[in-house]
Amino acid sequence: MDENPASSSRTSVLFVCLGNICRSPLAEGVFRHLVEQEGLADRFDIDSAGTGAWHVGERSDARSTLVAEQHGIELDSRARQVVLEDFERFDYIIAMDHDNLRTLQRMSEANGSGAHIELLRMYEPERDGDEVPDPYYGGASGFENVYKMVKRSCRGLLKQLRAA
Ligand code: 4NP
Repeated sequence: MDENPASSSRTSVLFVCLGNICRSPLAEGVFRHLVEQEGLADRFDIDSAGTGAWHVGERSDARSTLVAEQHGIELDSRARQVVLEDFERFDYIIAMDHDNLRTLQRMSEANGSGAHIELLRMYEPERDGDEVPDPYYGGASGFENVYKMVKRSCRGLLKQLRAA
């Protein structure tokens, strides 16, 4: 991360789910991959976090790591919980579902934030829903499904942020 955001023209994006082991590490990895493919790595700071603390310090869930690998993306994040500084540090805080969004909005209202706090799937063209469903208690097909919607959404997000 750039420690002095005021001096930078970089855009910072934080992806948030509940545990920070399934959905948001995948979104972080997919978005970073797209940014790198476009040669824009020096214009973005990208991270992920969870609203819950159960998995802090853990690597991403093996099923997320596998689905990412199958699509040529390496996940190397360690789970952490959202902290109040994130609301000053990030321009965009992108939630996977309505529960995450509500938690983030409550934290932001209580402490103030200039960040855009939004649902990831708002950036997905022709979406059939607005949440990235929690795949934790399901099978591998749920993770592939999450990957696909995350990829479509991240493409839309990057397109929007490039134009901003
Ligand atoms: P994530 O999935 O929010 O996409 O990381 C979950 C991971 C763990 C739990 C729930 C959801 N859990 O209850 O431990």
